[in-house]
Amino acid sequence: MDEILLSCSNVSKSYGGVAAVRAVGLELRAGEILGLIGPNGAGKTTLVDVITGQQTADTGVIRIGTVSLTGPPSRRARLAGFARTFQHPQLALDMTVRENILIGAVPDRFSSPWRVLASAFSGAARPATPEIDDRITDLAAELNISALDRMCADLTLGEQRLVEVARALLRGPTVLLLDEPFAGGDPRGVEGMIHALTRIVERGCGVLVVDHNVDIVASLVDRLVLMDQGQVVFDGLPTAAMASQEMRTVYFGSGT
Ligand SMILES: Nc1ncnc2c1ncn2[C@@H]1O[C@H](COP(=O)(O)OP(=O)(O)OP(=O)(O)O)[C@@H](O)[C@H]1O
Ligand SMILES: [Mg+2]
Repeated sequence: MDEILLSCSNVSKSYGGVAAVRAVGLELRAGEILGLIGPNGAGKTTLVDVITGQQTADTGVIRIGTVSLTGPPSRRARLAGFARTFQHPQLALDMTVRENILIGAVPDRFSSPWRVLASAFSGAARPATPEIDDRITDLAAELNISALDRMCADLTLGEQRLVEVARALLRGPTVLLLDEPFAGGDPRGVEGMIHALTRIVERGCGVLVVDHNVDIVASLVDRLVLMDQGQVVFDGLPTAAMASQEMRTVYFGSGT
């Protein structure tokens, strides 16, 4: 069995009276793509936020390997080897593709993308060294991102999502969490993202993919977790998930 890179046990998070994530447990292994699906409001983004430290869990334990990360600030989570992309891409649209990817090389004392961007504008970010420049060029080639000098505003949504993936990869993560990488993508964008994810797991990364495109996710992942109303209601092989009563209940309101 491959090494467990990430594990969550009994993780809960409420916002006021809303129990967004309830007693969730899951594991992600090296070289594995894990799909996380569920209807709007199921708690998928909240779980990613809690894992990466953008939000603090109310209960539970999150581990990288054997190291517990409960309640860390996001920078500690990233230092531990996480990188993520966002449901709504967080790119500086009036900067180039290369500049946006470079943000991934900014030291992790910056806790949010916007503080990172502010640091880039104020000159606090390190300028790209030739070595980092080469890594950006290589990453772009690997992910089929063309024209590094284009402005991000001129890209399709699918291309913008790939730029976010490249920015995350520049951190050299062992675990990559992608929130809706296929949303709003045209067929070429979806194809490009599938290509990118395949390459990423070949590096031995563990990848968590949250998305509503159930058919695409099921065809891509090794294992599928289904969430509903904050809880994990199914965790298993994609074929078993697709044929499960839980799937019918969650998506069609009928277990028969
Ligand atoms: N920052 C917040 N403050 C208050 N409530 C929140 C916050 N973020 C999420 N919620 C609530 O928590 C629940 C889970 O939301 P979450 O965004 O995690 O779901 P999701 O599965 O990602 O949904 P979607 O598929 O629409 O992105 C929802 O009821 C949502 O309204
Ligand atoms: Mg979400």
